[in-house]
Amino acid sequence: MTMSSFDVREKIAKRLKDLPTLPHVARRVIEIAYDPKSSAANMSEVISRDQSLTAKVLRVVNSAYYGFPRKIESVKQAVVILGFKAVSDLVVSVSVFDAFKKKTGLDFDMLGFWKHSIGVAVTAKTLAKYSGFMPVEDVFVPGLLHDIGKVVMVSFLPEEYKVVIDRVRSTGRWIRDVEEELLGIDHASIGRFVADKWNFPPKIVSTIFYHHRPLLAKDYRDIVGIIHAADVLVRVRKIGWGGDATIPTLNKDVWAMLKLSPNVLDDIYASMEESVKKAEEFFRLAQGG
Ligand SMILES: [Fe+2]
Ligand SMILES: [Fe+2]
Repeated sequence: MTMSSFDVREKIAKRLKDLPTLPHVARRVIEIAYDPKSSAANMSEVISRDQSLTAKVLRVVNSAYYGFPRKIESVKQAVVILGFKAVSDLVVSVSVFDAFKKKTGLDFDMLGFWKHSIGVAVTAKTLAKYSGFMPVEDVFVPGLLHDIGKVVMVSFLPEEYKVVIDRVRSTGRWIRDVEEELLGIDHASIGRFVADKWNFPPKIVSTIFYHHRPLLAKDYRDIVGIIHAADVLVRVRKIGWGGDATIPTLNKDVWAMLKLSPNVLDDIYASMEESVKKAEEFFRLAQGG
């Protein structure tokens, strides 16, 4: 294929106009979760209006993943027991997995990709806990969605992205460099476009756009830095598949910002492995398989 990156960018812009919208319920749930004035009652009400979503949420919360001794009968009860943010995370995960479930015929390891994403979400939680400078429950969704631009390209630009993936495979280079070189745009920019279109809160949009260039972020540096670091650590531990086998450099200033002493790293790795194992079960259930 001989296309200039300018042609590709035009084509991408056209194709992205046909992106599906995230279901209304998921959008409302994100709005509510990030609005300090909203209440848990609002959220249960919005979710309960969607029967199939309600069924999925209840199936996951009653699974071994959560391991509650008594059956949770309603979304309202789930919110009380699990908490507001955990239920919101669950709804967003289920909705995003659903939106990108269709087969693409591309040689892209989708299960590996979601393991990478869940791995980053879970690791971000651990880093937030150890560094102590932001609420643990705020980092899961941004972690899960940081590489959403890749799935969008796999699903909506399969021919163009196949060329990228083939080149990554034959050269062993970092996928982001190859995207830039062949398409003139990377998954972070595509991701930001989608996140804007889906009206995600600015915190999530920033995380998606800046996760590879954390020091350029003017706002939300804490969350951007945590996701950046989690992404690198997940690649170091070879959890899931982020599109290539490289390990990008962990930004020194970000590491300094997290103020983690080197001897907690083993603890962090151990808890990562443990939670990621649980997360795979979560993925299977959230997908409905
Ligand atoms: Fe990325
Ligand atoms: Fe990533």
